[in-house]
Amino acid sequence: MSKAAAPQNPTPIDADAVLAWYDRHARTLLWRVSPADRARGVPPDPYRVWLSEVMLQQTTVAAVGRYYARFLSLWPTVADLAAAPLEALLVEWAGLGYYARARNLHACAMAVVERFGGRFPTSSAELLTLPGVGPYTAAAIAAITADERIAVVDGNVDRVVARYIALDVPVRDEKDLVRATVQTAVPARAGDFAQALMDLGATICAPRNAACILCPLEPACLGAKADPLRFPVKPEKADRPTRYGHAFVMRDTDGDVYLQTRADTGLLAKMTETPVSDWTPDRRPVAPPVPSDWRHRGQVVHVFTHFRLELEVWSAHVADTAQLSAGWWADPRELDNEALPSVFRKVLVTAGVE
Ligand code: ADE
Repeated sequence: MSKAAAPQNPTPIDADAVLAWYDRHARTLLWRVSPADRARGVPPDPYRVWLSEVMLQQTTVAAVGRYYARFLSLWPTVADLAAAPLEALLVEWAGLGYYARARNLHACAMAVVERFGGRFPTSSAELLTLPGVGPYTAAAIAAITADERIAVVDGNVDRVVARYIALDVPVRDEKDLVRATVQTAVPARAGDFAQALMDLGATICAPRNAACILCPLEPACLGAKADPLRFPVKPEKADRPTRYGHAFVMRDTDGDVYLQTRADTGLLAKMTETPVSDWTPDRRPVAPPVPSDWRHRGQVVHVFTHFRLELEVWSAHVADTAQLSAGWWADPRELDNEALPSVFRKVLVTAGVE
């Protein structure tokens, strides 16, 4: 990785200005203790903060809301979540993507019960020992719940800092510099500061719009003096290969649809799927799972982190269901009770299953 000399902003981030802005403009979020309540001593619940942070990785605030509320109503404490079967978690997680997060969520809840007696730790050092809790999540929970003076740097904060210091290389080449720029500024109100920087990135210092005139960091921001939208500098795009496959949607005489469980390991492990071929680098014809009057219904395109998937969708009526035994027949009106990832929801919709 090339380390270009990066310009640094000699003026540290003004934490007081950031906090004053946050006191007036903090977003109201389900999992957040407002700055006013925090000042009155209301403590954030580490379980809730952890749940929200895991859900928010790779997912937008808008998409997370109803999942978060549903999880909390089903499992109000970490002990409740630890006691739930993994399958139930996967059903509720379906649609959020990155399913390893759901499996880690369960493993982490069990570890908190087993190793910490159900009391969620709040120091970053202890948090880092938990499954699925990496440096970002550990820092976020420790700062927000215990005001640990630690930099919390997510994608929004990367952008705020890249602009503040007019970083002329991609952030991933100067992670340490970005982190250090935040770390030197972390005040006693570390949790509010962390969330303030996130909110700044989500609202004022947005990817395609920089409302510098409203920003508490504007007076010393080097990006604002140049062209803020030039930052962060984009890394060269890695090519995302395409893979191809076929998905088979079978209905029985009641209109129920045939589903099965994916393998225990690999992408979308243990989630629910329709029968599907291997996903290959080129288009290949494949034999359907059973002989029938197969109709081609269209194509589903789904983008995963490391590849793009094109699935040809086929449907058929199957009268003789005896030869299908590994899966189950599901009522299309009850698909919400299945751990169906988005790609297989799209398959079902394309096949006319609503
Ligand atoms: N994105 C991730 N964590 C967040 C938080 N605690 N507040 C706002 N946005 C976030």
